[in-house]
Amino acid sequence: MKGAVVYYSRYGNNEKTAKAIMQGLEESGHQVDLLNAKQSRDLGADYEFLVVGSPTRAGRNSGPVKKFIKNNLDETWKGKPFAAFGTCLARACEKGEPTAAKDIHKELVDRGLHAVAEAFDNAVSGLKGPLATDGEENAREFGRRVGAALAG
Ligand SMILES: Cc1cc2nc3c(=O)[nH]c(=O)nc-3n(C[C@H](O)[C@H](O)[C@H](O)COP(=O)(O)O)c2cc1C
Repeated sequence: MKGAVVYYSRYGNNEKTAKAIMQGLEESGHQVDLLNAKQSRDLGADYEFLVVGSPTRAGRNSGPVKKFIKNNLDETWKGKPFAAFGTCLARACEKGEPTAAKDIHKELVDRGLHAVAEAFDNAVSGLKGPLATDGEENAREFGRRVGAALAG
């Protein structure tokens, strides 16, 4: 299937996560474009699935990704498959506190899109990172899992 991984990143950690997820999706045979929410205004009509992610800001999604969703995910996206991801401080990820990934997941379900995976929280050790040692491998694995769910 053809899809897009949409992300925003201030310090680079969510971008690394997005790229690793893209690799996992490609390993599963999907064709994927990587889109920075801050630079991408128009999603276009030819994507069959979306994977959307953001750094956590006060337990929520970030401004650029909120704006991207508002501008692009109209009625035509109802029923289409998606998965959500994001980065959060290790303690927040681990304690089940609110995160960007969970916020995006809920918003896209509310908009009628179809979730093919649980929200994926990738931990950073401080505001600017870095990702946990296994963070990129966990993101690739998430990409492979989403890829398999899309195929099945
Ligand atoms: C203004 C601000 C608010 C933040 N609030 C949270 C928060 O509520 N929960 C959390 O887990 N991380 C929070 N963080 C830390 C981010 O999770 C972290 O900076 C981000 O995941 C790093 O991703 P990036 O390198 O892609 O920007 C906050 C960071 C900033 C700058």
